[in-house]
Amino acid sequence: MNHILVTGGAGYIGSHTVLELLKLGENVVVIDDLSNSSKESLNRVETLSGKAVTFFEGSILDQDLLVNIFSQFSFSSVIHFAGHKAVGESVNKPLSYYHNNVQGTVSLVEVMEKFNVNNLVFSSSATVYGEGAKPPYIETQTLGCPTSPYGQTKLMVERILADVVRSNSDFKVANLRYFNPIGADESGQIGEDPNGIPNNLMPFVAQVAVGKRAELSIFGNDYATEDGTCERDYIHVTDLAQGHVAALNWLVNQAHGLCEAFNLGTGTPYSVLKIVKSFEQYTKVKVPFKFVPRRDGDLDAFWANADKAADKLNWQAHKTMQDMMEDTWRWQSNNPNGYNA
Ligand code: WQD
Repeated sequence: MNHILVTGGAGYIGSHTVLELLKLGENVVVIDDLSNSSKESLNRVETLSGKAVTFFEGSILDQDLLVNIFSQFSFSSVIHFAGHKAVGESVNKPLSYYHNNVQGTVSLVEVMEKFNVNNLVFSSSATVYGEGAKPPYIETQTLGCPTSPYGQTKLMVERILADVVRSNSDFKVANLRYFNPIGADESGQIGEDPNGIPNNLMPFVAQVAVGKRAELSIFGNDYATEDGTCERDYIHVTDLAQGHVAALNWLVNQAHGLCEAFNLGTGTPYSVLKIVKSFEQYTKVKVPFKFVPRRDGDLDAFWANADKAADKLNWQAHKTMQDMMEDTWRWQSNNPNGYNA
């Protein structure tokens, strides 16, 4: 029986992807060190799908554990989410990011090669386009220089995987470049549960709405955009999860080794102020905010050209801004303390 290995499968995007896979009847094995995630997400995924997940707690840096797992299951493919993802933290702890994200991937791919598992979907990021890239970002443009060590790790891993494909004509890679994932499964049972003070916009908005934080600080209102606040391409996490399924289906049907990148976004930019106003409109909950100075490293506006994913993967985002706001709120209001209720 074939299985799919999902590294980091207990995290925000990982758990939503595991849910979509189980709903399709796939057999899923998760490895996650729970450093920024909770096993409870997978308990809920099992309840929602009515299907069990095999779970291993541990790091992909632990090759003995990986070899042990690969010896027990026959994997058709791997979806690789496991990694640190806080941009600001990566500036203060670069070595931890390079070790975990880059060395972790090397460790994983070495074991994949050893067991002849040749399909890999990698969790990359729009940050690989770097500062100075002109939106909408398209996969054919030259990659830039990401501003943070976090971004550098994503770019380095993409390059390492391209080299692996050049050396191994059976190895197939899809690098999925995410834009800004938000929202939650429509059940309100799983969602984003950041440790401590949220770095990202949407969990911060949701925590203000639920009364955990007094007000949102909007970083800068003097950007070169319509209302002066930054614009991003926000994508519903369920659309994103389905993008992984589409990429996997495409990958296993390719005859030869390849390394291809796909943007996963909606193609439509929204400003920070528009997000706040949409949240208020669709949830009827007020989000007090103030303007504060710009945050270091923020770009004024970027969004995806998502045509390649539509053409090749037959995937596009379907959820609306209303879905993104209502689903975020259902998750946050049902679970004010995340999984630690
Ligand atoms: C969005 C907008 C902020 C918080 C990062 C990574 C990216 C990806 C997603 C991660 C910006 C503004 C935010 C707040 C605010 N990776 N903001 N007040 O920076 O576009 O992308 O997260 O896992 O690689 O770079 O996302 O959600 O942090 O910010 O005004 O309290 O919201 O300035 O304009 P970003 P974000």
